Amino acid sequence: MISYKTLGLVNTREMFKKAVKGGYAIPAFNFNNMEQLQAIIMASVETKSPVILQVSKGARNYANQTLLRYMAEGAVEYAKELGCEKPEIVLHLDHGDTFETCKSCIDMGFSSVMIDGSHLPYDENVALTKKVVEYAHQFDVTVEGELGVLAGVEDEVSAEESHYTKPEEVIDFVTKTGCDSLAISIGTSHGAYKFTPEQCTVDPETGRLLPPPLAFDVLAAIEEKLPGFPIVLHGSSSVPQEDVDTINKYGGKMVAAVGIPEEQLRQASKSAVCKINIDSDSRLAMTAAIRKTLAEKPGEFDPRKYLGPARDSMKELYKHKIVNVLGSNDKLDC
Ligand code: G3H
Ligand code: 13P
Ligand code: ZN
Repeated sequence: MISYKTLGLVNTREMFKKAVKGGYAIPAFNFNNMEQLQAIIMASVETKSPVILQVSKGARNYANQTLLRYMAEGAVEYAKELGCEKPEIVLHLDHGDTFETCKSCIDMGFSSVMIDGSHLPYDENVALTKKVVEYAHQFDVTVEGELGVLAGVEDEVSAEESHYTKPEEVIDFVTKTGCDSLAISIGTSHGAYKFTPEQCTVDPETGRLLPPPLAFDVLAAIEEKLPGFPIVLHGSSSVPQEDVDTINKYGGKMVAAVGIPEEQLRQASKSAVCKINIDSDSRLAMTAAIRKTLAEKPGEFDPRKYLGPARDSMKELYKHKIVNVLGSNDKLDC
């Protein structure tokens, strides 16, 4: 058993309390490799933002969960080396699917876990989430539960269509499970294709697809039931069209990729939404930079020469999210 506290990591409790009170959201960025992690840490130090490093099942399969845990430990030291004496970094399991996975992450030093029972019948979701909370809280590890199902694919959790969170269930769920935060479904979904063209309208000036708005009425009803309780939004990439255009210009083929407009995420950040999950936008920034570099320098074969620009591009993306969308900048006394 390794306590995250000895690794210099923090849980989400205080962070969320301050974020809800301050009307901003903490960025939860997924990482799978060193360049993403470096970009996240550089961006959070330069903007003085707390940050949540998320590890998904896909990331654990790709990079190995032990290695990712040591990378997060290294990230704390790296942040200090970059000049932030007191970084606030959470290591979080994204979409944990079983009690055993959550336990294994807690035992190896994660400071926060998500147990995603959203695809289960309500009572089973309650029972599973409660079991994880009981284990996690013994070690002061915080737990995110989920109610409502997002459209699209959540690792192996899939749903054909989105089922919004039912506001009438949230008090019972939070009370029975004791979870520390709640992921909800209000129209976001995972990946770079969040809406079908049929669900969108077309901007007459640009010809771009304009997605339907998020269900802010459902969010408001949830907030009314659970005043001040930390709410989490998954599937919150905006799918920047410049990155999609760059990918397509340099040999890619991404048709009708569309995300959540930043203005709506800005609005959500000011509410009880205090954690916003972003993964796809980082993938797009990385892919666009790599495609561009390799197309412009076809003789290049040193990975540092194309991963370096990709890292720079991700760092700018993370800083933009922190400062211009989530508002979590200038919250650390570095
Ligand atoms: O929730 C989904 C995240 O974007 C993680 O995706 O399992 O492909 O790493 P992944
Ligand atoms: P995006 O695919 O919109 O980046 O969502 C990521 C996410 O919710 C990770 O849990
Ligand atoms: Zn998610």
